[in-house]
Amino acid sequence: MTSPVRLALLGCGTVGSEVVRLLHAQSADLAARIGAPLELAGIAVRRLGRDRGALPVDEALFTTDALGLIKRDDVDVVIEVVGGIEPARGWLVEALRAGKSVVTANKALLAEDGAALHDAAAEGRADLYYEASVAGAIPLLRPLRDSLHGDRVNRVTGIVNGTTNFILSAMDATGAGFAEALEEATALGYAEADPTADVEGFDAAAKAAILASLAFHTRITAADVHREGITEVTAADVASAKAMGCTIKLLCIAARGRDTAEAETVSVRVHPAMIPLTHPLASVGDAFNAVFVEAEAAGQLMFYGRGAGGAPTASAVLGDVVAVARNRLAGVRAASESAYADLAVRPMGEALTRYHISLDVADRPGVLASVAGVFARHEVSIATVRQGSTGGGRPGSGDDAELVIVTHVAPDAALAATVGELRGLDIVGSVTSVLRVEGEA
Ligand SMILES: NC(=O)c1ccc[n+]([C@@H]2O[C@H](COP(=O)([O-])OP(=O)(O)OC[C@H]3O[C@@H](n4cnc5c(N)ncnc54)[C@H](OP(=O)(O)O)[C@@H]3O)[C@@H](O)[C@H]2O)c1
Repeated sequence: MTSPVRLALLGCGTVGSEVVRLLHAQSADLAARIGAPLELAGIAVRRLGRDRGALPVDEALFTTDALGLIKRDDVDVVIEVVGGIEPARGWLVEALRAGKSVVTANKALLAEDGAALHDAAAEGRADLYYEASVAGAIPLLRPLRDSLHGDRVNRVTGIVNGTTNFILSAMDATGAGFAEALEEATALGYAEADPTADVEGFDAAAKAAILASLAFHTRITAADVHREGITEVTAADVASAKAMGCTIKLLCIAARGRDTAEAETVSVRVHPAMIPLTHPLASVGDAFNAVFVEAEAAGQLMFYGRGAGGAPTASAVLGDVVAVARNRLAGVRAASESAYADLAVRPMGEALTRYHISLDVADRPGVLASVAGVFARHEVSIATVRQGSTGGGRPGSGDDAELVIVTHVAPDAALAATVGELRGLDIVGSVTSVLRVEGEA
């Protein structure tokens, strides 16, 4: 058999240790699929003495000198499952420039400075694969990067963060508030001790940037993504959504559009939104991920599965390792980054959305007309209005009443200005909930 393809594994935590196990458990099959055995040349970690359970690997392979390992002549492929921006960026740039193939799960780095990695890959004529960086085990990036390259993707809508999906699903199922559902997620190991990256939408925004870059052939970074988390979603919002036949999900949405001069643009956003129960993403519960792709010729495609966890993520890593190892043996490299379209990113204010707004208003004649006047002034068209008394009195009695208004599609800035003006009206006691609505009801 051909001489082995030698791997440097950077990181041996949740994902890295599963990569080691899979490499060992499937070594014969992997060798047969590639045409050469895979062999670990070394494993870089931060702490040599850490208990890693019973890993099927020689202790002598561990080192704290990641850069030294990368630079070794007998390393062909670098697998990075450490995370973070530095030192990972420096390591991967070094590896790629030296012509070593890189497989990484590092969404934060790809979303912040994917350009540095792609440029280094072009310079070193090396492969850069990162399937595991978005939606864990779900084959998603290679379909966007390869299978759909004959088509035109118009929109990508996804649930790409398992922690927040678990929390919102629990709120929906039990009527719990955010804090209570977060506590349950933490107890069950779905949320980290510091859940900020998940609940504030940073993790989903990084994935949105990676998905949008591939879907629209444009370099998009996390800074281009409008981001809102789920910490403000209340039990009342969830109840309101239910009353409308909807559920609330943290969505990443990347879509083509046009600016005022009719030039093509792209908008990328992450925020909680109400979606009708009939929407394909509504039934994605628990910590699962799913991504809904709409393409010109292919139509609607749905990708669903486990978006995180050691073994599911290691599955995606190993798939990439097989691909880059085969390329090395064949003396070829995969197609390089496709960023030719270079579309401008549309600001959130110009994104077209719908709003669901709940207001406590004084229950007296003329209030509805005043409220409707605010929407009209901002050229936001109202789709439906529902009114209920919250004070238990007769309509027109002067008690508070609840108004629930759903708008037609309008620029986000016009909707935000409408809500701002409503908050200042003396007939409006409070604006109790503002949520965007996605998908056809
Ligand atoms: N966990 C998931 O479900 C998941 C899913 C998709 C993508 N990812 C991505 O996969 C990557 C790894 O995640 P993880 O959950 O496996 O992280 P983790 O459990 O925290 O493991 C990180 C590993 O990196 C090592 N490390 C940290 N700093 C280092 C340094 N300066 N030099 C050498 N080694 C260093 C650590 O060494 P010690 O063991 O000695 O501390 C540890 O082995 C991240 O980019 C993450 O975003 C994770």
